[in-house]
Amino acid sequence: MNESPSPHKRRVRYSGKNPRGFAQKYKEHAPALYPETVQKILDSGKTPAGAHRPILVEEILEALHPGPGQLAVDCTLGYGGHAGRLIPLLCPGGRLLGLDADPIELPRTEARLRELGFGPDVFTAHRCNFAGLASVLAREVHRPADVILADLGVSSMQLDNPSRGFSLKHDGPLDMRMNPKKGQPVSALLAQITATQLAELLSENADEPHAAPLSVALAGKTFTGTLDLARAVRAVLSKRPEEECNLSVRRVFQALRIAVNEEFEALDTLLKQMPQALEAQGRVAILTFHSGEDRRVKKSFEAGLQSGIYSALSAGVIRAGEEERRANPRSTSAKLRWAVRAAAPNEA
Ligand SMILES: C[S@@+](CC[C@H](N)C(=O)[O-])C[C@H]1O[C@@H](n2cnc3c(N)ncnc32)[C@H](O)[C@@H]1O
Repeated sequence: MNESPSPHKRRVRYSGKNPRGFAQKYKEHAPALYPETVQKILDSGKTPAGAHRPILVEEILEALHPGPGQLAVDCTLGYGGHAGRLIPLLCPGGRLLGLDADPIELPRTEARLRELGFGPDVFTAHRCNFAGLASVLAREVHRPADVILADLGVSSMQLDNPSRGFSLKHDGPLDMRMNPKKGQPVSALLAQITATQLAELLSENADEPHAAPLSVALAGKTFTGTLDLARAVRAVLSKRPEEECNLSVRRVFQALRIAVNEEFEALDTLLKQMPQALEAQGRVAILTFHSGEDRRVKKSFEAGLQSGIYSALSAGVIRAGEEERRANPRSTSAKLRWAVRAAAPNEA
């Protein structure tokens, strides 16, 4: 049977009204064709649509000491920014396994890193949750890693693409799953949750000070999209200053995102597996973006130091300097901690 060729699709035309939608920013989606446009956006402290700026890169490289012949795992490959810097330092003879739960962005990142010249001998991409790190190591390399990085949360590509349902700026379906094929979207969670459960979730996942009134207004409700939910949050806090409302909208989105992706459960599992996943004297660095994550990393690393699993830890958290914060505002809340696996582990 003859199939007629698929009709040519025209690019969605920009209507001329500001702001441009994510899909209309076609120059930003093609940095190789429009390098000047992309550089202008970077210089203005913004991240081009469809891209992600890696955070605290030099500090992470210094903490991880990657060297030739070593095996590294990037548990949160994202755009491949950190991975792209790590891989050359592992050569010759080393390799990096890049993990990510996102089936939409992962193939794009794999293709981008291949285009940069990283073949399957030095880099492989694995679509999986980092809670499965031990299985990936057992299946792919049969040994622990020398270097492990986790840069938690979501990427700019995910946040900025309205169709993923994370966006506070543009309307989209109320989804927020990193892997849209797994679990339930935020819309389903909100429709089923009780006010008591939601209040607990907002406090636990985002330290939301208005958890009680917000949970009564939002639990069991149906929302048409991300902006509808944001409006409902603002309506509850209508007597509060605008800045306070904006912070609550962000925190509600963060708390719901953490819940549908089971982010704390995944992080707890990763931290538990870390001692077995790391080679003696291997190094781990974890970048967190809010207190719920940082508390877990701090507690786990400190307990490991006390029991002799780790031999050294970063002295407190490492934060982005003023210049990086200005160039990339998303680095403002980032906290980096690192740990070194003991040479002669004493796990008794
Ligand atoms: C902040 S971005 C990482 C950016 C990356 N370091 C870079 O330089 O481009 C976080 C990434 O981790 C992924 N992610 C978050 N939690 C995950 C999990 N539990 N398992 C696997 N991937 C996860 C997200 O899908 C996202 O792509």
